[in-house]
This record gives sequence, C-alpha cells and structure tokens, in this order.
Amino acid sequence: MIMSNWKHKHILDLSKFSLDDYKTVLELTTRFQDVPTTRSRKLPALQGRLVTNLFFESSTRTRSSFELAAKRLSADVQNFSVATSSLNKGETPLDTILTYIAMGTDILIIRHESTNVPNELAHYIDKHHINTSILNAGDGFHSHPSQGLLDLFTLANFFSPTNPSPNSLSNKKITIVGDILHSRVARSNLWALTGCGADVTLCGPKSLLPDEFSDFVLRPPSGQKYDPIKNRGSIVIKRSLKDALKGSDAVMTLRLQKERMHQNMLTDLDTYHNHYGITHESLKWCEKKVPVMHPGPVNRGIEISSQILEDDSISLIKNQVSNGIPTRMSLLYLLANRNIIES
Ligand code: NCD
Repeated sequence: MIMSNWKHKHILDLSKFSLDDYKTVLELTTRFQDVPTTRSRKLPALQGRLVTNLFFESSTRTRSSFELAAKRLSADVQNFSVATSSLNKGETPLDTILTYIAMGTDILIIRHESTNVPNELAHYIDKHHINTSILNAGDGFHSHPSQGLLDLFTLANFFSPTNPSPNSLSNKKITIVGDILHSRVARSNLWALTGCGADVTLCGPKSLLPDEFSDFVLRPPSGQKYDPIKNRGSIVIKRSLKDALKGSDAVMTLRLQKERMHQNMLTDLDTYHNHYGITHESLKWCEKKVPVMHPGPVNRGIEISSQILEDDSISLIKNQVSNGIPTRMSLLYLLANRNIIES
C-alpha cells in the first residue's frame, strides 16, 4: 500500500491537519471501506500491536467503532471502563493511564470530559520518550478528530462517490445547526470542512452559538505556531434557520448537550424545536433536496424529527456510523506506520 509520509505521532486536534493529511485519510478510508466484503474480512496490518480504548466518559458509537476498526486490522484490543476499574479504589486517572502504557500499548485512544487531557498526556509521553501514540476520542468541548474525519469522508463520498477527496468539499455550503457552544464535534468539523474549502454556515440561538464562532478558524489554537492550511473556507453565523438553510448543500444538526449546560440556557424544548428543529418542513428552505447528518446520540423530536431520522433518502446518519469504522482504521493504520512508506 503506497501512502504519503505521515508525520503525526498523536492525533489530538484537526487544527494541525494539512490538505495532504486529509487527502491521505480520505484515500485510505476509501480503500478500507471494502475490507468487510473481502474473504477474510480482516487485514493483518496491525498484527501484534496493542490498541487500548480508555473511555472516562460514556460512549456507544465511538468506542465500539474504534474497537471494531482495531480488530479489522488484527490488533490486540483492550477496553477500559470506569465502572469496573480501580478508579473506584482511589487510583488517579494518570496512574490508570500509566498502567496501560506499562503494558506496552502502541495506540491509546482516550475520551475524557475535561478539555486538554489528551494533549497533556501526549506532552507527558513525549517528555518521557515513550513510544505510545495518543488518539483523542473526544475531550470536553474541545476536539473529536475521528468524528470530524468520518463526517468529512461521509460528505466527500456523498458529493463524489467515485473519488472522495478534499476537493469534493470545495465551495460547498455546509450548514451546522444547534448546540455549537458545547460541541467538540462542531469544532472538529469547522477545522476539517473549512480546511477542505467548504463554506460553513452556523445556526443557533446566541446562548448556544456565541458571535465569536465566526472567527473560530482565523488563527490556530494557543500553543500551535501556524495554520498548515493557507486558504480556508468561510464561517458565517445566521440566527434564523430559514436564512441558514437557503442554498445549503448539506445540513448537520447536533444534539442539545444538556449534561454540559451549566445554567438553563433555553426557555423550553418545544420552542427550540420550532425554531431550529430539522424536519421535512424546515428542509424546504434549502430549495433543493439535501442530505442531513447527525453525529448521534440523537434527541428525537428536539434537534431532528423522527421522520427525517427514518428517511433514508435524506438521512446520512447510518452512513456516518458505518464510515466511522474505515475512517478509524485509517487513523490507527497511519499512527502504527508513521514515517514508513510501504509498497
Ligand atoms: C458526540 C460526542 O460524544 O462528542 N457523539 C459521538 O461521538 N458520536 C456528540 C454528542 O455527545 O452529542
């Protein structure tokens, strides 16, 4: 398998991704999509490697998807769950993590409710010259790179089924609706989509979408010296769903993250649904038939109607779930083979 030289030891935040990085991930994901239909249904690429799933926060899709991705590449996989761990006996999260590293983990996939835990861990690992790669599976509001990449692949595959590439997104108008403030998925999508040249419209009430989001990709996050992408797509904010959907090529809606809301940020859920709910009615404002995405888990009847969820001619949600596996296979493959060009 020929691929470009992959330089990232860890995958923490898509703000660090170049156009070549996106291209490599989309190309590999396209290839890995067919693995379940091959005779052995697996590839030996990560045989003997150890992949650890360390989820300090709940997860259905992401954890299972990473597990399956690692198994399809023949890695050994271990799963950690808070409920049955020694955290209950007072062990600190860092000591827990170091225990797994001492077992020789090659790739440590981590989800944590606190922003920056994966970054701090990567820093610790590099300082101590440990060979383990950190793959961020979601930290607080901050970043969820594998979700951003599987969403990117799903859109690229929708727009260019024969050749999904960063170019497939160029000048497309993607509308993201809902609780953007609390969403690491939205933040990772903003880096990925604008990085591939899409123009993003954000839509939601001020309490869930502060005005500053229009500047989100104007400068790299603190600690990052430069933006590897020169010309990004734009971000605009629209408060009315009708204005936001006009001319859209695809719509992404997000869960209202009630567990992350510190104060009562909404008047009531019915009013929210009437203003921002994605339904067959509201989609008429797009003026053409467009696909709808949602990272899940979904609050039915709040950010999205049950009818849209069940309409396979519109919803790409099942595609997002299935594309998550080859996307994550690509990330594991690249981390395990970084700096090696195989043929
Ligand atoms: C999201 C997450 O946990 O960040 N879900 C996911 O990973 N598919 C979004 C959410 O919790 O709403």
